[in-house]
Amino acid sequence: MDSRVSARMLAMTLGGWRTREPAYEALADGIRLLCLDNRLAPRTALPAERELAGALRVSRSTVAAAYRSLRETGHIASMRGSGSVTLPLGRRDPGRTFTADGMIDLQQASPPAWPGLAGIMAETAAAASGLVARVGYDVLGRIELREAIARRYTDRGVPTHPDEVLVTTGAQSAIHLVSSVLIARGDRVLVETPTYPHAADALRRAGARLVGVPVTTDEGWDVDRAEQAFARTLPVMAYLMPDFHNPTGHSMSAAERSAMLAAGERSGSVLVLDETTADLDIDRGPREPAFIAAEPGTVVRIGSLGKTVWGGLRLGWVRADGELIRRLVAARPAHDLGTPEFEQAIATSLLARFDDIVQQRSQLLRAGRDALVEALRASVPSWAVPEVHGGVSLWIELGVPLSSALVMQARTRGLLLTAGPRFSVEGGHDRHLRVPFTAPPEELIVAAGVLEEAWAAVRAGAPPSTFEAVEAVI
Ligand SMILES: Cc1ncc(COP(=O)(O)O)c(C=O)c1O
Repeated sequence: MDSRVSARMLAMTLGGWRTREPAYEALADGIRLLCLDNRLAPRTALPAERELAGALRVSRSTVAAAYRSLRETGHIASMRGSGSVTLPLGRRDPGRTFTADGMIDLQQASPPAWPGLAGIMAETAAAASGLVARVGYDVLGRIELREAIARRYTDRGVPTHPDEVLVTTGAQSAIHLVSSVLIARGDRVLVETPTYPHAADALRRAGARLVGVPVTTDEGWDVDRAEQAFARTLPVMAYLMPDFHNPTGHSMSAAERSAMLAAGERSGSVLVLDETTADLDIDRGPREPAFIAAEPGTVVRIGSLGKTVWGGLRLGWVRADGELIRRLVAARPAHDLGTPEFEQAIATSLLARFDDIVQQRSQLLRAGRDALVEALRASVPSWAVPEVHGGVSLWIELGVPLSSALVMQARTRGLLLTAGPRFSVEGGHDRHLRVPFTAPPEELIVAAGVLEEAWAAVRAGAPPSTFEAVEAVI
C-alpha cells in the first residue's frame, strides 16, 4: 500500500458530493471521480467507515453502503481487519475510454495536429538516411534546433544563445526535470490556483510544499497575495503561466509581470514561466517583452510545440542560464536519455514557418472558442461563461459547488471532462468547470447540449438547499 488519506482530507476533497439520492450512491460517485482523475492514487488506503462517517456527518451505514458499491464496481478492495484500498482503474472504466465510439473526450485540452505536419514528417523521413546513421538522441538537443529556438526568443526581445536552450520530450518533461533539480524535499514553491495539474503533481513529487496564489476569471492574479506569499514563505521557485494561463485563459498585464518579477527577485526565488500556451493568441495582441531579470538564474522559461503543432511530437524545451542548463543536463539521464533526433529535425523545419503555424492555430482556436461560448451561454444561461482572448479552455463559474457531480453525470452521457478541483492546489474549485475549446466546433456544440442535460439531472438530484441559497442572490 503506497499511501493513506485521512477522513478529514477525504471529506475536504469530496467537497459538495451530496448531489443525488440515495446518499450512499452520491458518496460512491464522488470517490469514483477522485479515482478517475487521480486525486486518489491507486493503492491509497481509505479511512475506516466510522471515521469517514464522522467527518462527513452521515451515518456509518451510508459509508458502508458506498464502500460496498465501490467494491462492486471494482474501484476499491476491502480486506477484513486491514480496511479498504483504492484499485488501479479497470479497462472498462470511463476514465480510460479515450476512443470509444460516440464518446467526446474533453479531459485534455489537446488541439488536433497542425494540418501541414504530416507533409513535414514525410519530407524529414525521406531525408532520414543521414539521421539513422547517428545515435539518434542526445541529452542537450540538436544544435540546429537550439539555434532556431534561441532565435525565436531573441526576436521576441529575450536575447538567447543556443547554449541557454535544452530540448526536452515535451514541456511536462521539462517541468519535471527543472523541479527535480531546483527543489529539495520540504521547499516551498509558489503556484497559481487553479493551475495545470500535471505540473503541480511534478512539483509535489519533487518534494515541494505548494503555496497557492489565486487567479480568477474576473480579476486575474491576486498580486497582493502573491507579494505577501513571496515575502512570507520565501519560495525557492514559483511556477507561473503568464500568458493564457491554463485553465483560466487569463494573461498577466505588464504591471502584474513587473510586480511578480520584483517580488521573486526580492525573495530570491527562481521564476519558472510555463509558456506552453503563450503563442495561442486569438484576439489579445502581442505583449512587450517581460520577466527580463537583472540577475542571471532568476527566470527559467519552458516552451513546447504541444499546443501549437501537436502534442504527439513530445517536443519541448527549457530556456535558462548556461549554468542551470549544465545542471539539467547532468541530472537528465536518470529519467530520460534525450529527445529523438527525428522529432527534433521535424521541429527545426516547423520553426522555420512558425509564424504561419501560429496564425492558423489562432483561427482554429477562435472557431472553437466562439462556438463553445455561444452554445454554453444558450444552453445554461445561469453559468458565468468568461470572455477569453486565447489559450485552450474556458473556466466556467457554475454558481454552486457541483463540478464533480456534473462531471460524473456528463460521463454517463458520453462526455469526459475534468472537474474543477483537479486544478486546485489547496482544495476547492468545485464551483468551476474547465471546458477546453480545442475540439472541432460541431463536437463542442454537442458537448454543450450534453452539459445542459447533465446539469438538469444534477439539479434534479441535488438537495434543494444547494440551489436555494444561490437563487436567492441571482
Ligand atoms: C500549461 C501546460 N504546461 C505543460 C503542458 C504539457 O505539455 P507537453 O505536451 O509539451 O508535455 C501542458 C499541456 O496540456 C500545458 O497546458
